[in-house]
Amino acid sequence: MTAETPLLFQPITLRDLTLKNRVVISPMCQHNADFGIPGDWHVVHLGRFAIGGAGLVFVESTAVDPRARIGIKDVGLWDDAQIAPFRRITDFVHSVGGRIGVQLAHAGRKAGSEALWEGGRALSMEALAATGEPWRRVGPSPLAPSAEWSVPEEMTVEDIAATERMFVDAALRADAAGFDALELHFGHGYLVASFLSPVSNKRTDAYGGSRDNRMRMCIDYAAAVRRAWPTEKPLFVRISAVDGSVDGWNLDDSVVLAERLKAVGVDVIDCSSGGLAEETRNTNVPRGLGFQVPFSERIRREAGIRTQAVGVILDGPQAEAILRNGQADLVAIGREALLDPNWATHAAQALGCDPNFETINFRHGHWLAKRESLMRQIREGRL
Ligand SMILES: Cc1cc2nc3c(=O)[nH]c(=O)nc-3n(C[C@H](O)[C@H](O)[C@H](O)COP(=O)(O)O)c2cc1C
Repeated sequence: MTAETPLLFQPITLRDLTLKNRVVISPMCQHNADFGIPGDWHVVHLGRFAIGGAGLVFVESTAVDPRARIGIKDVGLWDDAQIAPFRRITDFVHSVGGRIGVQLAHAGRKAGSEALWEGGRALSMEALAATGEPWRRVGPSPLAPSAEWSVPEEMTVEDIAATERMFVDAALRADAAGFDALELHFGHGYLVASFLSPVSNKRTDAYGGSRDNRMRMCIDYAAAVRRAWPTEKPLFVRISAVDGSVDGWNLDDSVVLAERLKAVGVDVIDCSSGGLAEETRNTNVPRGLGFQVPFSERIRREAGIRTQAVGVILDGPQAEAILRNGQADLVAIGREALLDPNWATHAAQALGCDPNFETINFRHGHWLAKRESLMRQIREGRL
């Protein structure tokens, strides 16, 4: 590696974790778990991103409470029995030279939706009861995100404390399962996001009203997890930098929140948006190329914390420009990685920094380097 090595392929160190590059695979729900237990699908789905050269792979939103899964077949870390199945995944990713994190989530008032490929809509409480599994929709106030959702129960102060404990216990299990990084899903209208926004939070106690009060759950949960999560491992927080609702949570609020999260030991703010009042697919932030990058840029500059940009980042040159322009420290790739699990390898090729195909695991890279010399001869008309 030289000074000319693209930033995307320069290592980055977060606490004691060094990532070989700045390509992160964004968490993506698979709705394919047996009561929270990941299986073969997850080993392959996540493993191929690691083989393909990403610096860090995130497991999808992983429930801290079975009643608060986003979708009906989401994975979870609410039980010690879930540690070993996750250990299979982390062991595999480590065996191919990758690093892996997990995103912990509590769906709040948006618990219990159908699979995304079925539409991702709210299931009725009756349909959820018919699964025979526990479900509960809770929020800051008895207000549904939209007409399709049932009205959530207003959380008591005891509920808030019990959920903090669940996040902490899940973080301890994530450590036991061998994860290198942890992300708290505090965006997309789920529990913590619903406390942040004045649109969904109408409380009059210490958790509602002023912005400081609405941030209390977010800061307390992050601080509690930080105390439990090993000091040497980084903690990410995904927020909706703007919640996509009129008079809701905005970018000024997110800058202040990021400063406060930094003060309690959060290392990276993962800058997403939307999802509060309608489902994420209906967010009113226009979804163009790199549409959330400006959120990351401003939070990084003004809060002085590392950020991860996400959303319609298509290729290596675009990702490299985001890093070079100081708009983010890491780039997260979602759907493009579903299309091309070797996204990092293709990015390195496009940026001309990987002549020997060292980004992809050597079992493939060895042959791709040989293939390249053949391809060159074909291109030059010598074969
Ligand atoms: C199939 C799928 C599942 C997703 N699941 C999650 C999730 O579990 N947690 C989360 O924070 N975002 C989730 N997202 C959002 C992605 O992490 C990412 O932020 C979004 O797709 C935008 O990035 P992209 O344009 O690169 O796909 C999901 C997206 C997709 C396509």
